Amino acid sequence: MLAFALPGFRSLVEGVERGRWTLGRFADGELHARLHVDVRDRACAIVGTLAPPDRRTLAVPLLAHTLRRAGARRVTAVLPYLGYARQDRAAPGTSLGLDWALTLLEACGVDDVVTLDIHNPDVPLPLPVRSRSAAALLAGALDPVDLADATVVAPDDGALRRARALADAAGIAPLVVLHKRRDAAGVVHSAASECPTRSAVIVDDILDTGATLISGCRWLRDAGTERITILVTHAVLSGTRWRELPALGVRRIVATDSLPGARRRGAGIVELLPAGPLVLGADP
Ligand code: R5P
Repeated sequence: MLAFALPGFRSLVEGVERGRWTLGRFADGELHARLHVDVRDRACAIVGTLAPPDRRTLAVPLLAHTLRRAGARRVTAVLPYLGYARQDRAAPGTSLGLDWALTLLEACGVDDVVTLDIHNPDVPLPLPVRSRSAAALLAGALDPVDLADATVVAPDDGALRRARALADAAGIAPLVVLHKRRDAAGVVHSAASECPTRSAVIVDDILDTGATLISGCRWLRDAGTERITILVTHAVLSGTRWRELPALGVRRIVATDSLPGARRRGAGIVELLPAGPLVLGADP
């Protein structure tokens, strides 16, 4: 398999045969892709994301179309962080972002997608998407202090399946689900299924603005939790609010490097684990 990494995603394809290509712009701003390798009859993988900026989002379908025109036998989009995946429901007359993004990929010649911890694995999708779990990778990062007297915490119902997988992988038995709602003030957590212990390992798919985890950590702190470890698959890290987390009793924030920008934005705060082997394993 020949892997074509988007700018910024090279670290994910270490150890994999890499296809050389360049992405440029014409004077008017239009994107342009050029292959520097023969891809006829080859199975190819595009490694990147559909997340903003739009240049990056559009590079994936543009490159897929270019690979197909050049005779690639198969094109797999390896998108550890599947941007637009949170837009999986829409009111009539509004855009359905995930369906749009995957329809675009399919139309441009993508056969299937490999991702990590898709936001909602139960929605129907226009092309095959294989979502791999980061639970074992994240669980492996827990140290004896994180694990001592720990409860695994899901910050909402949607996180329950991932939290269970993490609890199994880490060998932690107690598991608590927090109830999350949004009001005018933002995200608010209320009652939990039972009281957590002094140490909590809170598990979510995405740390974006931090609103969900800040509210969850406040609730845990008020309920008597002293030590919190955050495990998230994707460190989006929008804005600066998420930086309040360490002041709320959060000892460690651990994520995968599914979004390479997290390295700069989370420097000194977020520990990153390699996602490449999970998504580019034996059967990408
Ligand atoms: C929500 O359903 C997701 O699982 C995440 O909890 C959420 O998207 C995280 O975003 P933020 O950090 O902005 O609260």
